Amino acid sequence: MEDFAFYADLKDLDISDQQLIKRAQEATRFSYAPYSNFFVGAALLLQDGTIVIGANQENVSYPLCMCAERVVLYNMAIQHPAKQILKMTVVARKNEEFVPATCCGACRQVMLEFELRQKRNFEVIMLGADQKWIKCSAVSVLIPFQFEF
Ligand code: THU
Repeated sequence: MEDFAFYADLKDLDISDQQLIKRAQEATRFSYAPYSNFFVGAALLLQDGTIVIGANQENVSYPLCMCAERVVLYNMAIQHPAKQILKMTVVARKNEEFVPATCCGACRQVMLEFELRQKRNFEVIMLGADQKWIKCSAVSVLIPFQFEF
């Protein structure tokens, strides 16, 4: 698979990808975002078919806000520590409309560590600014020249 694949329509993605996107969309209902009104949902597909969801959680002290991606990963790390992640989907909603959103840099760094820990790439699917779905073959392609020591 190429590093990135682009899809103009949701229906062009595999059924399992579409289902995982749906779960991320549903997860936006658990978002707590009274300050930004930007409701982000994320879903993980694990190797045994388990799906884990997360959503962003904000705080009146703004820097304490936690992105959906990190919420779902930290949830998975505790609830399913022995399982590998196959795929992650991330979506965002403003009011009732889904809008483009790609993972922030901080989340990419955290996602990368999960990928390295499990010694297996996982796919990341999100909606780009041009309304095309972006499917990344691995987290490592989203964060080149990574920090290591
Ligand atoms: N947010 C995420 O949940 N994921 C991202 O990748 C970017 C931003 C959240 C954080 C904050 O609650 C809201 O979106 C606005 O930045």
